[in-house]
Amino acid sequence: MKPLKPYDDIVELDNVLPPWWLGLFYISIIFSLIYLLGYHLFHAFDSQEAEFKAEQIALEQSMQRVSAKALAKENTQGGSETSTANLEKGKLIFSKNCASCHGPNGEGGIGPSFNDKVWIHGGDLASIQNIVRVGVPEKGMIPWQNALRPQEILEVSAFVKSLEKEN
Ligand code: HEC
Repeated sequence: MKPLKPYDDIVELDNVLPPWWLGLFYISIIFSLIYLLGYHLFHAFDSQEAEFKAEQIALEQSMQRVSAKALAKENTQGGSETSTANLEKGKLIFSKNCASCHGPNGEGGIGPSFNDKVWIHGGDLASIQNIVRVGVPEKGMIPWQNALRPQEILEVSAFVKSLEKEN
């Protein structure tokens, strides 16, 4: 190709562009067109924000489903677990072992109150049972798995759960 000869004698070459470079260049133009039309003019694709929101909603729904399932399970199992007889037993165990820290009616003291909807470690029966079993030794909550039988842990947990009130 004939070099261009501008007035200042600096030669400017007009070489053929490498095909791979040209290819990329055209692809990027096509891509930017698709992008412009799809995202900004016709909104055919969701923006990051919309995608994020949709995912969050899906996550929330799946979490609600899971907790609804857990609740349903609790309720069907709960027939005997939360029966008045068991709650009475749970109350006895509670006043003997737990009232000193959590208050005679679960109103709280050294340990947190059970008369509200605020749970540090989860307010479903399974979570309460688990905390009663393993405790939170570093925070002063004793593990009860060696002191109480599993049935007793269940009874006292059901009683703790029954103390929960709105707000
Ligand atoms: C020596 C005091 C003490 C005794 C006795 C005690 N607890 Fe606790 N308990 C605590 C403390 C302190 C915490 C808070 C732990 C934390 O901050 O994570 C706690 C937390 C809990 C929690 C978790 C509360 C939440 O918000 O998630 C449950 C459930 C619980 N205790 C049940 C019991 C039961 C049932 C008994 C009797 C069998 C009992 N505790 C006896 C001190 C005590």
